[in-house]
Amino acid sequence: MCFLRTQTSVGPVAGNFKSHGRVRIFDTTLRDGEQSPGATLTHGEKIEIAQKLESLNVDVIEAGFPIASQDDFKAVKAVSQTVRKPIVCGLARTLEKDIEKAWQAVQSAKKPRIHTFIATSQIHMKHKLKMSKAAVKKQAVEMVGFAKNFCEDIEFSAEDASRSSPEFLCEIFEAVINAGATTINIPDTVGYSQPNEFGRLVRHVKENVPNIEAAAISVHCHDDLGMAVANSMAAIMNGARQVECTINGLGERAGNASLEEIAMNLFTRKEFFETGTCINFKEIYPASKMVSNFTGIAVQRNKAIVGENAFAHEAGVHQHGMLADSRTYEIMKPETIGKISKLVLGKHSGKHATKAVLEEMGFFFSGEELDAVTARIKQVADVKKSVRKRDIVAIANEIVKGNKNEVI
Ligand code: KIV
Ligand code: ZN
Repeated sequence: MCFLRTQTSVGPVAGNFKSHGRVRIFDTTLRDGEQSPGATLTHGEKIEIAQKLESLNVDVIEAGFPIASQDDFKAVKAVSQTVRKPIVCGLARTLEKDIEKAWQAVQSAKKPRIHTFIATSQIHMKHKLKMSKAAVKKQAVEMVGFAKNFCEDIEFSAEDASRSSPEFLCEIFEAVINAGATTINIPDTVGYSQPNEFGRLVRHVKENVPNIEAAAISVHCHDDLGMAVANSMAAIMNGARQVECTINGLGERAGNASLEEIAMNLFTRKEFFETGTCINFKEIYPASKMVSNFTGIAVQRNKAIVGENAFAHEAGVHQHGMLADSRTYEIMKPETIGKISKLVLGKHSGKHATKAVLEEMGFFFSGEELDAVTARIKQVADVKKSVRKRDIVAIANEIVKGNKNEVI
């Protein structure tokens, strides 16, 4: 059982969460994330990431695609045996051999799930599957039924849903729910949708699938047009209660929706969304660091939430405001995600920030001395752009000693 956290307490968040239901976080870093070009993880790294995801309190870990390789199978099996709190899920096409393999991999999990998928868009059915609509629907229904022989918790994904006919989507979702699917997933597989449009599609499914109450609505958005998080948020506003996402937004091509951005949007704007997650926010930054170290894929400096610059303030006016009250320029506290805020001294920095940084280093200046250090730091910054800690120490010592030696 988890409580929705506010910034200062662990009690339930004010607002009508009960009637709206909370959002489940389905992490697919180990499956779609590992499909990122250039990202490969060792077996041990996958287990460590799964443990980190468990401390992050995600609801579902999609640990891999067991039929894809022996390594994937072993990793899904090991994750199933390691974590206890989250649901562990294995991906499978709507094929008996995939489903059997997925079940072999997840059956030792405390909470196993089989996630099976087939494409429903005209372009995929015609050119990739070479199957008619009727055949796709029949196979989906039969394979959800087949999976149900092994496992109670079945997710069905209509691949390329955002480019599929909404009527066909509703028809296939109704049929797979009757066959036992407990979650139906609406993927924007190629990152083509726009937020209003995607929100409308989710609402259409919610309002036109007669047995929808028997399943949770999930979304899975890719970032080809940079809309993955925006589309996920629009989906939540229209009734989705599971979002599929990855740490640092890793994933096929331009990636998936980023877990940290979704979780922090829901937390920071909880009154707006009137729902939330059970994420343990303090683990967000450590999880991001771990995934970036293990995959070798660096996080863009100015990425929202976990980028190096996300809580860094350089402009003098901003630094002054921050020192007076951090809420002037920070809508989230870096400590919330397990990070500390940093003032970067550069050519735009003013006296207030310089004083604060110096005091943290043990130098206490005021009046003319402070003016002199600030001016000297600006001179160095003009040449070097940003001033390193050892430059600041050298400048401070210079002033203390009253000599004007050159600073390296
Ligand atoms: O992008 C996609 O459609 C997928 C499905 C397998 C859910 O990854
Ligand atoms: Zn995907």
